[in-house]
Amino acid sequence: MKLRVEVWRQADPTDRGHFETHEVDGLEPHLSVLEMLDALNEQLIDSGREPVAFESDCREGICGACGVTVDGQVHGPEDNLPSCHQRLINLDDGASVRIEPLRSAGFPVVRDLIVDRSGLDDLIRAGGYVSINAGTAPDADSLPVGEQQAEKALDFAACIGCGACVAACPNGSAHLFTGAKLAHLSMLPMASTERQRRAHSMVRAAEELFGPCSYYGECARACPAEINLNAIAAFNHERMLAGLKRRL
Ligand code: SF4
Ligand code: FES
Repeated sequence: MKLRVEVWRQADPTDRGHFETHEVDGLEPHLSVLEMLDALNEQLIDSGREPVAFESDCREGICGACGVTVDGQVHGPEDNLPSCHQRLINLDDGASVRIEPLRSAGFPVVRDLIVDRSGLDDLIRAGGYVSINAGTAPDADSLPVGEQQAEKALDFAACIGCGACVAACPNGSAHLFTGAKLAHLSMLPMASTERQRRAHSMVRAAEELFGPCSYYGECARACPAEINLNAIAAFNHERMLAGLKRRL
């Protein structure tokens, strides 16, 4: 199949950026959006031009490195899939497709399709450490965690840090991401000592660095780890336990 690809080009954070149009032929419908960008880059390199800069690593939905906007939709047209799993099968032969970076005030563009997502690292840093007794190795069953509780914690721990929730949110909120981290740790006894301090500082950081939550729910639709809106409820619950009022 052949596609007309409009791709965002931006030399650096100070450049205004623009769309560039290329025809890419010989694509198979089962290819991913990233593989289509690979094909485009081969074309550009063969003609002596700069390839499009974009991020990816595992290409298996695990690492969270990928993230582009496809025809205005974060990650791509299919809900709950990362860009590396979005297939061209949804596009007609000869169609146009517009690829741009994740768009959010909290994610400035570094180059082409690469954005700076270090604000999410700042949130994790704000969460601080979890103290453990590092003496002799404890017995595996000395701190029992019920199966249901462990499964719930693991559901929240599935977040891959891709930032799609922030980019999909009209407010640029990081409540889903932050709520997932807080919920995950609040369910495990080994991380309970710092619970209140962690919630205090992560909620503060989320509200300072990112937008407020208005419960649009777009974050959960875009999330490739299927973190649901219970993470937002957990965010609000942890904020209340930390003695913080909701910032409107
Ligand atoms: S909550 Fe979902 S969308 Fe947000 S960073 Fe984690 S995996 Fe990505
Ligand atoms: S490249 Fe790792 S999740 Fe997409």
